[in-house]
Amino acid sequence: MKIGIVGTGNISLKHLHEFNKIDKVKIEAVCDTNHSNLSKFLLHDKSIRGYSSLEEMLYKEKNFDGISNTTPDRFHKDISLKILERGLNIFCEKPLAENFSDAKIMVKAAQKAKKINMVNFTYRESSAYQKLVEIIKSGDLGVPRHVCASYYQSWLTSNKWGNWQEEDKWLWRLSTKHGSNGALGDTGVHIFDFAVNAVGDIDKIFADLKTYYDKGKNIGEYQLDANDGFTSLVRFENGAIGTITNTRVATGHANSLILDVFLTKGGLKVELDEERTKWSTLHICENENINKMQWDTLECGTVKTNYEKFIDSIKTKKNLQPDFNQGAKIQKIIDSCIKSNDNNIWVDINK
Ligand SMILES: NC(=O)c1ccc[n+]([C@@H]2O[C@H](COP(=O)([O-])OP(=O)(O)OC[C@H]3O[C@@H](n4cnc5c(N)ncnc54)[C@H](O)[C@@H]3O)[C@@H](O)[C@H]2O)c1
Repeated sequence: MKIGIVGTGNISLKHLHEFNKIDKVKIEAVCDTNHSNLSKFLLHDKSIRGYSSLEEMLYKEKNFDGISNTTPDRFHKDISLKILERGLNIFCEKPLAENFSDAKIMVKAAQKAKKINMVNFTYRESSAYQKLVEIIKSGDLGVPRHVCASYYQSWLTSNKWGNWQEEDKWLWRLSTKHGSNGALGDTGVHIFDFAVNAVGDIDKIFADLKTYYDKGKNIGEYQLDANDGFTSLVRFENGAIGTITNTRVATGHANSLILDVFLTKGGLKVELDEERTKWSTLHICENENINKMQWDTLECGTVKTNYEKFIDSIKTKKNLQPDFNQGAKIQKIIDSCIKSNDNNIWVDINK
């Protein structure tokens, strides 16, 4: 199968690696409007053809089975629509769009084109997380009552991923004019998808977004006005309550997602961290352990990546999750957080 990539920045190398690992799948061609990023990418594989725009790539390449959209958030909609208009399957990076109304347009376009559509909510690839979802859905531990979901990064307070003040790939993430909804839109989408897919839909939300202006107001063309983190209080439709938070100043955490779900008959915990934990370890407290405060550790093996699921979906013509509809659902939560913060109110997600 022949796959293309639009946007050859930071995450595109992961797409190259993950798609090329799949049997009989190859990245055939890529494009980027930034010549330097394109040239650097092409050094990784001399057999890949490179183009300076999506239009040029679609004009010259006729045999794609699907395309990955790995451009910054503000280009997701227009580029994905062009790909769908060409009748191609689309694998889009998260967040699906900049807002819910654009996300809905993308869902409609995918439905009209009848093409496979997927959003790259990466952390679904944890087998421990998938087991947690399965256990909750089975009802064996009763009903969810209380949820704590946190996503911690520290690229504003550590140099593990480089210096945010010097690189475009971090600066656009700090600027609303460059199409970013800050931490909320960038990584908040992951932690909302994580919580909602496991526990159920959110009914009401109250959010507090925070921008640390003391880090500076501008760097070059970038106005540093996007939120650097948020906290939110949520009420789920099934009666559970919870907190969902995310920050870029969690010193000591490069990239950690932690989800605690307390149910009427047990507790579940996953902690995904780049270095300290495995994505396959699920912690569970149930049965006789409940009164002893003891937790068992389940090793959950491996599960398919989103890249594999995209290819499987194309082969079987059955759209696996997470699809554009899920991306749009999460986008609605993001919009609701902004509305809640701006008006200092609880927001009913479904109104
Ligand atoms: N799923 C994940 O866990 C994950 C991780 C990192 C990034 N992302 C997402 O991936 C996207 C890209 O992030 P990144 O860190 O790679 O950004 P980046 O800035 O490093 O790379 C984006 C690339 O897109 C190119 N580009 C911009 N407009 C273009 C256009 N019109 N046509 C072709 N190329 C264009 C840029 O020149 C740049 O090379 C973002 O939406 C981000 O949220 C997802």
